[in-house]
Amino acid sequence: MVIQMKTVENIIVVGVGQMGKGIAQLCLMAGYHVILNDVKNDIIKNAVTYIENGLKRLEKKGQLRGKLMVTDILARMETTTDLIEAVKEADFIIEAIVENLDIKQKVCKTALDNSPRHCVFASNTSSIRITDIAKTCNNSTNVIGMHFFNPAPLMRLIEIIAGEQSSEETMNIGVEVGESLPCLRGERYVPKVLKDHPGFIVNRVLAPERIYSDYIFDLAYKQGIPWQEIDADITGPNEQMSRLVLADFVGRDVSFHTAEYYAETLSPDFSPGEFVRKQIAEGNLGKKTGRGFYDWSEGRPRPDLSKKAGIVNSMVYTAIRVNEACRVLEEGVCNSWKVIDEAILAGMNFPGPMEYAVNNYRQLAELLEEYSEKLNKPYLKPIKLLQSGKFISME
Ligand SMILES: NC(=O)c1ccc[n+]([C@@H]2O[C@H](COP(=O)([O-])OP(=O)(O)OC[C@H]3O[C@@H](n4cnc5c(N)ncnc54)[C@H](O)[C@@H]3O)[C@@H](O)[C@H]2O)c1
Repeated sequence: MVIQMKTVENIIVVGVGQMGKGIAQLCLMAGYHVILNDVKNDIIKNAVTYIENGLKRLEKKGQLRGKLMVTDILARMETTTDLIEAVKEADFIIEAIVENLDIKQKVCKTALDNSPRHCVFASNTSSIRITDIAKTCNNSTNVIGMHFFNPAPLMRLIEIIAGEQSSEETMNIGVEVGESLPCLRGERYVPKVLKDHPGFIVNRVLAPERIYSDYIFDLAYKQGIPWQEIDADITGPNEQMSRLVLADFVGRDVSFHTAEYYAETLSPDFSPGEFVRKQIAEGNLGKKTGRGFYDWSEGRPRPDLSKKAGIVNSMVYTAIRVNEACRVLEEGVCNSWKVIDEAILAGMNFPGPMEYAVNNYRQLAELLEEYSEKLNKPYLKPIKLLQSGKFISME
């Protein structure tokens, strides 16, 4: 038995690092009583300072809902390193701890074993199956995914993910809690993800374009093309940070591990390319090591993007996204291409590819036939749902 949304009062955020502290701030701003839990007191202190400063900035700008004062909001916040104590009266737990299945399983089981029977456990995992996180706990119907995008206060999207056992009621509560959280940049978009397949919706649709990027990086390296010319090829006119600066900023190791994850879970065609392997081997991981595509020793690089290499066909990226979105529809991860477009806009701040595909799917499918051969990557072949245009009716 799961409680109705109106009775969710107490939210526990477990793990208040990079993501958890932002999530806790949103829960406080939405009016919940919030307990911050982490393994170390200094991490909790750091999160509290982050939340206090964030709230004060919003108060100054008059952006707090109603006539709320920072002090009123903070009065609803508690902290503890003791998980069992934290969840005693929990209605809803959001877990944002390290991305490790064993630890997440243990936290899920301990949290649900020690909280009221109605309590929902929502994991912010970016890649682990919700079904696996819930496997060892006694009430897996109450476990869902709640995937925030970074930074949580600014990005509108929250994906609510069903594990194999998640109940409809738990999913609905997840959506309602998600929708109740303020967003500092527009209205929340909180779609249901019906299956916990790798990457859920947005990360999944954007995942395979790395196959084409790696092909381009390998080619550019072999031909000695300067990275800023490749960057000029792939960076759009209104992007605040160019694509390769962003890649360095995120870290080449992060990209490498993500590619390996998809190579294991989706297709070997995702295996990282030669150039990224070389970057990893040489420790050129980007900003964090002072060198990636660019030299960071004097701060953020400002590449001159006036000259293009002209070796990138940007329509290939669109075609790859559309094909993957069709896979998401085919697998039943989501049943509407409009939801996919909305989710990409809300999570990434750029439009999804599907509206364009409705009128152009034949050309996109032909392009994928050509490039899957050229790159020798069968995963990029257009799937039937795209080729036939049948996805169009899945609105
Ligand atoms: N960083 C992102 O961009 C991003 C985006 C979406 C989802 N996620 C997911 O969110 C989760 C957290 O990521 P992050 O970037 O905030 O990591 P982080 O390392 O910044 O924070 C993790 C926190 O969890 C704490 N922790 C570890 N074990 C714990 C335990 N047993 N009990 C309580 N606290 C514990 C750590 O002390 C740390 O403070 C991961 O599952 C990640 O995949 C991250």
